[in-house]
Amino acid sequence: MAGSIVILTGAGISKESGIDTFRDAGGLWSQVRIEDVATPSAFVRNPQLVQAFYNMRRHALQAPAIQPNAAHVALARLEAEWKGKVILVTQNIDDLHQRAGSKNILAIHGELLKSRCFACGNVVEERGDLGAASTCIACAEIGTLRPHVVWFNEMPFFMDEAIAAIEACDIFVSIGTSGAVYPAAGLVEYANAAGARTIEINLEPSDVASAFAEKRYGKATDLVPAFVSELLGS
Ligand code: APR
Repeated sequence: MAGSIVILTGAGISKESGIDTFRDAGGLWSQVRIEDVATPSAFVRNPQLVQAFYNMRRHALQAPAIQPNAAHVALARLEAEWKGKVILVTQNIDDLHQRAGSKNILAIHGELLKSRCFACGNVVEERGDLGAASTCIACAEIGTLRPHVVWFNEMPFFMDEAIAAIEACDIFVSIGTSGAVYPAAGLVEYANAAGARTIEINLEPSDVASAFAEKRYGKATDLVPAFVSELLGS
């Protein structure tokens, strides 16, 4: 009987689609300070700067050149063809996994193409700019829309579901993440406690590489399709 697989992805899986990672040379956090654009206090202090940062990323994500790559497509194929359960826990806020066809996704850091009203909590798809004049379609409040993404010092979404899935999984594979940010970086420990097979696929060893039994280093578009073919062939 095919067991259950949990996949954790990070920015590295979207790098070859043209989306910057955060901590590589030239990454996003070398361009702007986290404290200025990705914390609740930054939003209180200078909402225009925070909105502009996410408006720019929301526009960039929708550029025609930004498409799912072979690694995203391989994970969607795995979900479609694997006889057991496949759950994708992603730290990414881009929509490339969704566009590649993955369905069973827990977007624990939120989604760039959604906005949330901090007055009523309503969440809607958002493809345009957010700002002080943005109006909530649910409660009609003006200026209360924020990106539906998780900032530092905020709790990620779906962590209970992610941990429950990992505690029951047979295979846990981490792809394209530096292992620098908790609680996502600690998820592998639940897989080890569950006796699951653990694999790290990344360009280079992550900060939590020692927690993985198997490690494969190289580009996601090379390693992930090969890994999926191996699993489906098994
Ligand atoms: N193939 C595979 N891995 C790659 C590739 C590639 N082509 N290019 C880069 N990587 C790897 C890098 O070696 C690095 O370890 O992807 C990882 C990206 O790490 P980060 O930039 O730290 O991104 P991530 O791990 O997703 O960050 C986690 O931090 O800033 C927050 O909320 C943000 O979700 C993000 C979280």
